[in-house]
Amino acid sequence: MNKTMNSDIERIMLTEEEIAAEVKKAAAWLDERYRDCAEPPIAISVLKGSVVFFCDLLRAMDTPVQMDFMTVSSYGHTSESSGIPKIVMDLAAPVAGRDVLLVEDIVDSGHSLKKMKDLLGGRGAKSFTVVTLLDKPARRQVDIKADYSCFEIENEFIVGYGLDYAQRYRNLPYIGVLKHSVYEK
Ligand code: PRP
Repeated sequence: MNKTMNSDIERIMLTEEEIAAEVKKAAAWLDERYRDCAEPPIAISVLKGSVVFFCDLLRAMDTPVQMDFMTVSSYGHTSESSGIPKIVMDLAAPVAGRDVLLVEDIVDSGHSLKKMKDLLGGRGAKSFTVVTLLDKPARRQVDIKADYSCFEIENEFIVGYGLDYAQRYRNLPYIGVLKHSVYEK
């Protein structure tokens, strides 16, 4: 059941139930992909936005995984990507020779994903799989794609289920479209 809608939200784009159903499908796809893996893949949450999806996705999987975290930031306090993602916190462990599963909340311009792919590829990961909850292809500036996207969405300003505006709304259990008045103040 959804909580009462936050008054800054214009409409709910994706309900908890719709998200949960797609998370299950993504987990099944990953279980199949990693079926013959000798060693547990390293699942990386790109903080902070992906953490909610990451926790739900990994708990829906049967495959044993290791977890690691990296903080990449490109938005600061604005609603537009700066196009220059910054590694704010690096992984705790090396990925050389390992299967890496990168979990993103959204691929927008594609700059963050490109940065992570280049970085981890350079560190000698054995395989690299990207799963994203949301994909906004209309906003792409870099020719890059996730291996699996749960939802392809229109170019609207959305928050919730990990996604923020100025660090707010991440703990909404649904994905909602933010009212223009909130970010045009
Ligand atoms: C968001 C999101 C992705 C990235 C996608 O992170 O979590 O990592 O932007 O945008 P891009 O495709 O244009 O690079 P953000 O930098 O806002 O940090 P956050 O995860 O802490 O919210």
